[in-house]
Amino acid sequence: METHLFLLVLSLLLFLSKPGSGFGSPGPIAASLGGNSAFFCAIDASGRQEVICWGKNYSSPSSPSSSSSSTSQTYNIPSMAVLSGGDGFLCGVLSNTSQPFCFSSLGSSSSSGTDLVPLSYRTNAYSQIAAGNRHVCAVRGAYYSDHDSGTVDCWEITKAANNSFVAKESSNLYDQNVSNLVFNKIVSGDGFSCGVVREGGVLCFGPKSSTLGLNTTTSDSFEVLSAGKSSVCAILNSTREIKCWGDEDSFVNSPGDESRFVALASGPNHYCGIREDTHEVECWGNANFSLIPKASGFKAIASSDSIVCGIREEDLVLDCWMVNGSSTLAYDPPLELCSPGVCRAGPCGDKEFAFNASILGEPDLTSLCVRKELSLCSPCGSDCSNGFFLSSSCTENSDRVCTSCSLCQNSSCSDICKLHNHDSSSDKHWNQLALIVGSSASALLIIIICCCVVPRFVTSPNKEDGFKSCIGKTDLETEPLEMIAPAPSVTPFAQVFRLSELKDATNGFKEFNELGRGSYGFVYKAVLSDGRQVAVKRANASTIIHTNAREFEAELEILCNIRHSNIVNLIGYSTEMGERLLVYEYMPHGTLHDHLHGGFSPLSWGLRVRIALQTAKGLEYLHVEAEPRIVHGDVKSSNVLLDSEWAARVADFGLLTSSNERSLDVKGDVYDFGVVLLEILTGRKRYDRDCDPPEIVEWAVPVIREGKAAVVLDKYIASPRNVEPLLKLADVAELCVREDPSQRPNTSELVNLLDQLARDGLLL
Ligand SMILES: *[C@@H]1O[C@H](CO)[C@@H](O)[C@H](O)[C@H]1NC(C)=O
Ligand SMILES: *[C@@H]1O[C@H](CO)[C@@H](O)[C@H](O)[C@H]1NC(C)=O
Ligand SMILES: *[C@@H]1O[C@H](CO)[C@@H](O)[C@H](O)[C@H]1NC(C)=O
Ligand SMILES: *[C@@H]1O[C@H](CO)[C@@H](O)[C@H](O)[C@H]1NC(C)=O
Ligand SMILES: *[C@@H]1O[C@H](CO)[C@@H](O)[C@H](O)[C@H]1NC(C)=O
Ligand SMILES: *[C@@H]1O[C@H](CO)[C@@H](O)[C@H](O)[C@H]1NC(C)=O
Ligand SMILES: *[C@@H]1O[C@H](CO)[C@@H](O)[C@H](O)[C@H]1NC(C)=O
Ligand SMILES: *[C@@H]1O[C@H](CO)[C@@H](O)[C@H](O)[C@H]1NC(C)=O
Ligand SMILES: *[C@@H]1O[C@H](CO)[C@@H](O)[C@H](O)[C@H]1NC(C)=O
Ligand SMILES: *[C@@H]1O[C@H](CO)[C@@H](O)[C@H](O)[C@H]1NC(C)=O
Ligand SMILES: *[C@@H]1O[C@H](CO)[C@@H](O)[C@H](O)[C@H]1NC(C)=O
Ligand SMILES: *[C@@H]1O[C@H](CO)[C@@H](O)[C@H](O)[C@H]1NC(C)=O
Repeated sequence: METHLFLLVLSLLLFLSKPGSGFGSPGPIAASLGGNSAFFCAIDASGRQEVICWGKNYSSPSSPSSSSSSTSQTYNIPSMAVLSGGDGFLCGVLSNTSQPFCFSSLGSSSSSGTDLVPLSYRTNAYSQIAAGNRHVCAVRGAYYSDHDSGTVDCWEITKAANNSFVAKESSNLYDQNVSNLVFNKIVSGDGFSCGVVREGGVLCFGPKSSTLGLNTTTSDSFEVLSAGKSSVCAILNSTREIKCWGDEDSFVNSPGDESRFVALASGPNHYCGIREDTHEVECWGNANFSLIPKASGFKAIASSDSIVCGIREEDLVLDCWMVNGSSTLAYDPPLELCSPGVCRAGPCGDKEFAFNASILGEPDLTSLCVRKELSLCSPCGSDCSNGFFLSSSCTENSDRVCTSCSLCQNSSCSDICKLHNHDSSSDKHWNQLALIVGSSASALLIIIICCCVVPRFVTSPNKEDGFKSCIGKTDLETEPLEMIAPAPSVTPFAQVFRLSELKDATNGFKEFNELGRGSYGFVYKAVLSDGRQVAVKRANASTIIHTNAREFEAELEILCNIRHSNIVNLIGYSTEMGERLLVYEYMPHGTLHDHLHGGFSPLSWGLRVRIALQTAKGLEYLHVEAEPRIVHGDVKSSNVLLDSEWAARVADFGLLTSSNERSLDVKGDVYDFGVVLLEILTGRKRYDRDCDPPEIVEWAVPVIREGKAAVVLDKYIASPRNVEPLLKLADVAELCVREDPSQRPNTSELVNLLDQLARDGLLL
C-alpha cells in the first residue's frame, strides 16, 4: 500500500518535473534540478566561504510554517571557491586544496555529501569546474593562483534507478585533440562543453556539440560563457554584448548590441544576464519574465528550470523569483548573506572594485575570502535604476553610489530624475522619501541617522518640483550630504544597536523570549545590558526578501520621526548581517485582546472607556499628524497594547507591514476601530463560532440599532451605576461600522466624541 502510494507520488513528480539542469556559468551561486523542484547553493558571507543550500520545494508565502530552506549542516559541504550545478547534483572546487567536489542534491536518501568524482581525479587541483546535465568538465590548475588556464578533464555522472549517482571516467566526451588544448574558462550543457581556449576563441566538444554551430575559428574573445541545454551564450570581451549559438528558441529576444552585460546565468531554455550599467537583471528566451525584480541591482545570479535566484547588491540578501510564474507562488531562500562573487588571487582589474567587508558592520569580518591575500572583485556599475541618480562613481574599493531622486537638490541630477519620474509609475510610495542606495550599506545608515537625528529637516514633499526632497533645502543646500552633522540641541530618536547586543538581550532570539508573531516576523522580549526592557521585532526571511534595504530604510526614517504617547514608539534598530531588527518600547501589560478574551481579570468600565479614547488618539495621530500620514491597515484588539500605566498604545503600523489587501483608506481603520469598540463593550471576540451570527458586527449592531445595547454589554463585570455613557459608546461603535465609509466619523471626530464620553465616564 505504502509502496504504491510512493510510486504514484514518484511518477507524479517525474511527470511534473521536466528534465533540466543548473547549467549556467560557474560562480558564487549555482542551481541544480532534482526531485520535484529546484535546488540552489551559494557561498556565504561569513569569511569562511561556507556553502549554504536551499530549495527542495516551493513554499507559499501564506503558509507560515513553510521552511523551504535547508542549511549547509544538513549537507556538510566543505568550504568552496566556486560552484556549478548539474542535473540533481552540484560541483565545486574546495577552497583549501582546489580539489573537485561533487554532491547530490536529491536529499539524504541518496549520496548527499559523497564525493561524485572518479578516484583518479580526486586529488587533482582545478581552477574551473563546470557541471552539465550528466557530466562535469574541469580545468587543471590551482584555483587561487595567477595561472587560471590548463588542460581539461571530464567525467560522467549517471543516475542509478535508486536515485543515487555514480561517477566514472568519460570515454566519449572528448578526444586527444581536446585534452591537449589549454582552456581558461569552461561551461557544460547537455552532452557538450564549451571553453575559451588560451590562444583565443571558443571550442565546443562532446557528442552534442556539433548542433551548436560554434566553430573554433571564431576570432572573438569572450569574457563570460553560459550554457543552456542545447545552446550557449557568451559576453564578448570587447563590447560586452551577448552572442548566442545553438537552439534558437532558448535565446529568442536576446538583447541587442547596445546592451552590455557583466554576468550570465541560464536555465535549460532561457538566459538571464546582469546589465553592466545598472546591474539590473534582464532575461531572454522562451518564457515570461514578468516577475524579475524592478529597480534592484544584483551581484550574481543562477537559474534552474523555472526559478532564478540572485544576490542583491544593496544588502547581499538572496532574492528568488519564478520564470513563467504568477506572483502567488514565492520561493523563499534562507536569510544568510551571500558572497557577492568568487575570491581570486591578484588585484582587481580595470572597471572592477574590491569588495570591502567592513560595510557589513561585523567587527571581526575583514574579508569574505578564506585567505588574506585573496580579493573579491566585482564589476563596477556605471548607471542607476529609475528613480535614482548617480551620486558617486565607482572607485577601486567601492561601487558607484545611487541616490534616490528624493534627495536630488540641484541641476546636476534634476534632469535625470525628471526623466525617470516620467516613466516610472511604480514606487509612488517611495519616491517621496529620502533614500540612498548603492553597494555601501553604511551610506544608507548615514542618511537615516541624519534624518532621525535632525527630524525637523524632514518636511513634506514639494509637489511642484519634478523631484521631491526629504531634507529641507534651506539649511543644507550647500552642504554635501556627508557633512550633515547632528544638531547638538536635538536628542537622537533612534539608537543604532549592535546585532550581538540584541542577540544577547533576547537569549539568541529563543522561543521563550518570544512575545508573539506578526506580519513582519517574530517579536521578542529583550532586556538590554542597561536593564531596560524592550520589544524586538525581527523581520523574517519572507519580509526581508520582499522588501529591499531601501524600502526598509524609508520605513525606518518614518518610524523614527513618529512619536506619540498612544502609540508604541520605536527606540532603535539594527541592520547588521542583513537582519532587519526594530527595537520598540516594551508594553508590560500585553494586548487588549488578551485582557478582553484571554481569561485575565476583567478590565473595569472606566478603564475600557479610557482605552477606547487613547486608541482613537493614537489613530488620530497616525491619520492626521504623522508625516507622511499613515493608514494603520490592521487595527484590532491584539494591536492595542497596554503600557505600564495601563494606557493604550497602538502597535504594528508601518508601511512594510501593510499587505496589498489592506485598504488605503483611513475609513477602513475607523471600521476596524468600531469592531474594537464592540469587543470592548461586549467582551466578545471579533469572530466567535459559538455565537449566532459569529461576526460581532452582525451580532451586535442590529441590537444597538434597536436601542437595546444594554443587552450585549459584557456580563463578566458589574453594570455601572450609570449605563448611559456605555450606550453612547455603542452608538459610536455603530457609526464606525457603517457600510458606507462616508457615514463613518473620522478619527478627529471620534476623539472628540470619546473625550466627552470619558468625562461622563468618570461617573461610571
Ligand atoms: C513571515 O512574514 C510573512 C509576511 O511578511 C508572514 O506571512 C509569515 O507568517 C511570517 N513567518 C513567520 C514564521 O513569522
Ligand atoms: C517539501 O517536500 C517534502 C517532501 O518532499 C514534504 O514532506 C514537505 O511537506 C514539503 N514542504 C513544503 C513546505 O511544501
Ligand atoms: C580541506 O578542507 C576539507 C574540508 O573542510 C578537509 O577535509 C581537508 O582536510 C582540508 N585539507 C587541507 C589540506 O587543509
Ligand atoms: C543504489 O544502487 C547502486 C547500484 O545500482 C548501489 O551501489 C547503491 O548502494 C544503491 N544506493 C542506495 C542508497 O540504495
Ligand atoms: C585531431 O587532430 C588531428 C590533426 O589536427 C586530426 O587529423 C583529427 O581528425 C582530429 N581528431 C578528431 C577526433 O577531431
Ligand atoms: C566551421 O567553420 C568552417 C569554416 O569557417 C565552416 O566551413 C563550417 O561550416 C563551420 N562549421 C559549423 C558547424 O558551423
Ligand atoms: C579583453 O578586452 C580588454 C579591453 O577591452 C583587453 O585589454 C583584454 O586584453 C581583452 N582580453 C582578451 C582575453 O582578449
Ligand atoms: C514558459 O512558458 C513557455 C510558453 O508557455 C514554455 O514553452 C516554456 O517551457 C516555459 N518555461 C518554463 C521554464 O516553465
Ligand atoms: C506574463 O505573466 C504575467 C503574470 O502571469 C501576465 O500578466 C503577462 O500578461 C504575461 N506576459 C506575457 C507576454 O505573456
Ligand atoms: C574598508 O573600509 C574601512 C572602513 O571604511 C577602511 O578603514 C578600510 O581601509 C577599507 N579597506 C580597504 C581594503 O579598502
Ligand atoms: C549638487 O548636489 C550634490 C549633492 O546633492 C553635490 O554633491 C554637487 O556638488 C552639487 N552640484 C552643484 C553643481 O551644485
Ligand atoms: C473630520 O471631520 C470633520 C467634520 O466633518 C472635519 O471638519 C475635519 O476636517 C475632518 N478631519 C479630517 C482630518 O479629515
